[in-house]
Amino acid sequence: MPGLLLGDVFPNFEAETTIGKIKFHDFLGSSWGILFSHPRDFTPVCTTELARAAQLSDEFKKRGVKMIALSIDSAEDHRNWSKDVMAFNSDGADSPLPYPIIADDKRELSVQLGMLDPDERDKDGMPLTARCVFVIGPDKKLKLSILYPATTGRNFDELLRVIDSLQLTAQKKVATPVDWKPGDKVMVIPSLSDAEATALFPSGVTTKELPSGKSYLRYTQL
Ligand code: BEZ
Repeated sequence: MPGLLLGDVFPNFEAETTIGKIKFHDFLGSSWGILFSHPRDFTPVCTTELARAAQLSDEFKKRGVKMIALSIDSAEDHRNWSKDVMAFNSDGADSPLPYPIIADDKRELSVQLGMLDPDERDKDGMPLTARCVFVIGPDKKLKLSILYPATTGRNFDELLRVIDSLQLTAQKKVATPVDWKPGDKVMVIPSLSDAEATALFPSGVTTKELPSGKSYLRYTQL
């Protein structure tokens, strides 16, 4: 079964979560969304990841991004484990986890969304969820997907960086180069002619000379 492709409408699934039953599109409303799965509750790397995600929740909120996590544990497990996650952040011990977790204990959603990691199994031999990330736009379409194995924790600062790029490039005819961060120069997209680029970017367009003689490496400052 082919997985979700960029540009596909994200499934409007129903699920049990730590905040009760949700229908995903209603949960998102008109916001951007980030859905991130983890292999299992009460495991070390997952605890560090969800704790970091909690620390950065105001940054996601500032960008208008609704956060939701998922694993193949029950809502009750998620609620109990959330206390450990928040206690891992020394300043967060008494606060609730600032985003819900989907309880996919039947693995239905994990199968539907292609999230299972065939290399990581529980004690009964059942596959665990990989570390998937889906970023969904306000149009409910998939804008980005990343897939890490269970043994490699993600970098949530990088997720904020890619969201900054996704939100910028959704508005302007630019692309962000390697290691870009907000405020850095951006690249003019190849489909724009030089004349269109000059008209569109009043701060000017600089073109790097290359051995090929082709003028495709065009920067502008927004
Ligand atoms: C962890 O979160 O530490 C973890 C979970 C499953 C497999 C390996 C590591």
